[in-house]
Amino acid sequence: LFLSSQRDENEPPGPKPLPLLGNLLILDVNKPHLSLCDMAKQFGPVFTVYFGPKKVVVLAGYKTVKRALVNYADEFGDREIMPLFHDFTKGHGILFANGESWKEMRRFALTNLREFGKKKIEEKIIEETCHLREEFEKFEGKPFETTQLMNYAASSVISAIVYGRRFEYTDLHLRNMVDRANESVRLSGTASVQLYNMFPFLGPWLKNWRLLMKNLELDIKDISELVTSLRQTLNPQDLRGLVDSFLIRKQTAEESGEKNSLFHEQNIIFTVSNLFIAGTDTTSTTVRWGLLLMAKYPHIQDRVQEEIDQVIGGRQPITEDRKNLPYTDAVIHETQRLANIVPTSIPHMTSCDVHFNGYFIKKGTCIFPLLMSVLWDEDEWETPHTFNPEHFLDKHGRFVKRDAFLPFSAGRRVCLGESLARMELFLFFTSLLQHFRFTPPPGVSEDDLDLTPAVGLTLNPTPHKLCAVKRS
Ligand code: HEM
Repeated sequence: LFLSSQRDENEPPGPKPLPLLGNLLILDVNKPHLSLCDMAKQFGPVFTVYFGPKKVVVLAGYKTVKRALVNYADEFGDREIMPLFHDFTKGHGILFANGESWKEMRRFALTNLREFGKKKIEEKIIEETCHLREEFEKFEGKPFETTQLMNYAASSVISAIVYGRRFEYTDLHLRNMVDRANESVRLSGTASVQLYNMFPFLGPWLKNWRLLMKNLELDIKDISELVTSLRQTLNPQDLRGLVDSFLIRKQTAEESGEKNSLFHEQNIIFTVSNLFIAGTDTTSTTVRWGLLLMAKYPHIQDRVQEEIDQVIGGRQPITEDRKNLPYTDAVIHETQRLANIVPTSIPHMTSCDVHFNGYFIKKGTCIFPLLMSVLWDEDEWETPHTFNPEHFLDKHGRFVKRDAFLPFSAGRRVCLGESLARMELFLFFTSLLQHFRFTPPPGVSEDDLDLTPAVGLTLNPTPHKLCAVKRS
């Protein structure tokens, strides 16, 4: 546990660690991404920092992060499984897994999303946008918090893909699952849970950790019940979703007497749970940032709505429309860039000893690809700290892709739901902007809308209310 301040030769530089505390005194544990971005200015794009006794190598800036995750994809491509995440999944599923089991589950989920088909996924999302719109309408332009409804909508899309059916927003399964996931994301970002990751023996004394474990238990129970009911009505000729495909693979392995098949009960439960955890809060938070930014910058909202009115008019937006909506597309990209919702990505781990940028990094070292330093890289973006859709437009107003746009990370661990998420962001955002004008509550000015994120595992907007006023 006690560190020597002596570094291995050729180890990336960094602030001098104290015994046991490491660099905790100079790290803001509630907003580590900010401290790490500051340190990158002092120590360069590859540096070492100690979260308590835990050594982490941080990669910063577009060039370095891209080179590590893409050119050294295998070396930097394992997942660091922190104690909390090990408690969650015990190495099963996708998010917090490595080796053969991770590879097989990731491949299975990706193939399944592809086989499910773009068209069918689009239909499910469009169906969801209609339900969401109806819910927004019920507020009749009065101020409300969008979190819960957006979470229900994003979660319901995952349900449609995983279980083969959406849930009504009144369904208790959906409500409990979403509310628990929300709470877990919040708790995971708290200082006491960060502390647990550094000193796991503290677990039983930490209330937040106990609450997280309780949520986990209830999640597993709920998913098991849903999987069991699908198993009882399974029809190989009519697969309803990812769970059905999994159950068929499991059955086939059992019938052929395959030993050590990875298609077992634990993997179905945690693969399903990972898709919900990774796909709900992320998508919903990004849309909410988008709506908040529209309320804060009404002249940008004007331009989005003019474009939507001109190109789409009153009909339902479809993904094909994206190419004809360059300004709206730029606004969505710029929202993701500025909102920077997963600022340190999800921790990686080196799978072997690596020589990188002149430094030596040992096998098994925890790696933080600092996505925030990419999305806000001063060498890549004209105005990194302000909301500026022009980042994604050329001088003729055409959409331009930018290399440093990496909100989904890159390489071997790149977000598995990227294409699904992009489709959801586009369809949710355009459908909502087509039907509603988003404004601050009466008495609150645009300047009062706060863009400081709240603490949590992902960077969420600070709790706020907006009015969704029906457009004529
Ligand atoms: C991983 C971002 C939506 C499923 C990740 C990672 C990021 C990310 C940064 C970590 C990549 C790394 O380790 O370097 C986002 C954002 C989203 C989004 C910004 C929405 C705006 C989704 C959706 C799904 C999903 C809708 C569900 C299908 C996953 C999974 C992983 C992952 C399963 C783990 C991949 C692995 O470890 O191999 N995502 N994500 N994500 N995401 Fe997403």
